Amino acid sequence: MLIKNLRMENFRNFDFESVEFSENVNIFYGKNGQGKTNLLEAVNYFTNGKSCRNNMKEKDVVKFGKENFSLAAEFELKKEGKSTRNVYEKIDFKSKKSIYINGQPVEKLSDILGLIDTVLFMPNDIAYVTGAPANRRNYIDSFLSKNRPGYFKLLASYIYVIKQKNNILKEKKNKEQLDIYNEKLFEYGSKICEIRENFIKVFSEYVRKIYSDISESNENLEFIYKPCIDKYFDKDEFMKVLEENKEKEIIFGSSHKGPHRDDVSIIMSGKPAKFFASQGQLRSIVLAMKIAEAEIIKDTKGEYPIMLLDDVFSELDSQRREFLLKNLSGKQVIITITNADISKNFADAKYFEIEKGKIIKK
Ligand SMILES: Nc1ncnc2c1ncn2[C@@H]1O[C@H](COP(=O)(O)OP(=O)(O)O)[C@@H](O)[C@H]1O
Ligand SMILES: [Mg+2]
Repeated sequence: MLIKNLRMENFRNFDFESVEFSENVNIFYGKNGQGKTNLLEAVNYFTNGKSCRNNMKEKDVVKFGKENFSLAAEFELKKEGKSTRNVYEKIDFKSKKSIYINGQPVEKLSDILGLIDTVLFMPNDIAYVTGAPANRRNYIDSFLSKNRPGYFKLLASYIYVIKQKNNILKEKKNKEQLDIYNEKLFEYGSKICEIRENFIKVFSEYVRKIYSDISESNENLEFIYKPCIDKYFDKDEFMKVLEENKEKEIIFGSSHKGPHRDDVSIIMSGKPAKFFASQGQLRSIVLAMKIAEAEIIKDTKGEYPIMLLDDVFSELDSQRREFLLKNLSGKQVIITITNADISKNFADAKYFEIEKGKIIKK
């Protein structure tokens, strides 16, 4: 998948900017606070239909003092050397968020999931390893929502049931209805767990191989799915766990058991990476996860996603830089860096300078 061009209007600190991308490496450099990350956020918007920055209100991406923003981009699938699809999207807040693909309005935001493949690497992504279980659940759910047909809908159904159940738990009445909701939780929840477990097995294999290439060490890296309900596939077991927790859930007014409490253990040579990995190892793990995403997308869809790398080189030592540079060849890459002295590494890259929201082709 390629992004050919991008047009931004009142997005973050950009007034009106457009970019024509190279099919290979694109480098955006500039001082801090000039708009480099904002540019990657704009490209990534086409993948998820929302901001990649955590806890961001949608309105926050609109340029200060403006009413709405719009983004338009053309993408191309390169299969068999010919372009098979062009996508054009426009998102603004004047009335409501509206998206168009090839001139046709998109009805639901979720309809765009899986259409535009990007993989985004940001400096604070090590939270996937070191942070709370929700970080890892969100990571998996986000990947599966885009790459596994039906998963987003399944997850939405599950979340809906959890909300309904929580309402009943909070009101502390209609308790007899709890059993009905628990049945539904099993119906959706066990499917979610099964998809997650299968995915983690495959993902773990990819990451393990890539990590051993990056680190050139004997450390063994492994991802292990940790379902909240161990025997999630067994209805009697699932219902038993919910039943055992019923009183506690009523006291606390919230649902304590189910895939919304799942986790993934990231194990490095037998120990939890969360507690024992060094900063360098953590960065390598995240890098391996992102490259694994790209490889899985390539192996399932036939084409690499667009790689969006935010300030990644300042995070890596020279050996890992070498590895990344080698790995990136043959992919379309958009990289931000804070200075241009990396230039010698990219013989045929296209360079752009960003200064105060202005993008200047070099
Ligand atoms: N909604 C907005 N409107 C205008 N400027 C914004 C908005 N959101 C962020 N900014 C500005 O964008 C700049 C940060 O851009 P960013 O892309 O994160 O910088 P960097 O080049 O360091 O990656 C800051 O100056 C910030 O004030
Ligand atoms: Mg930045």
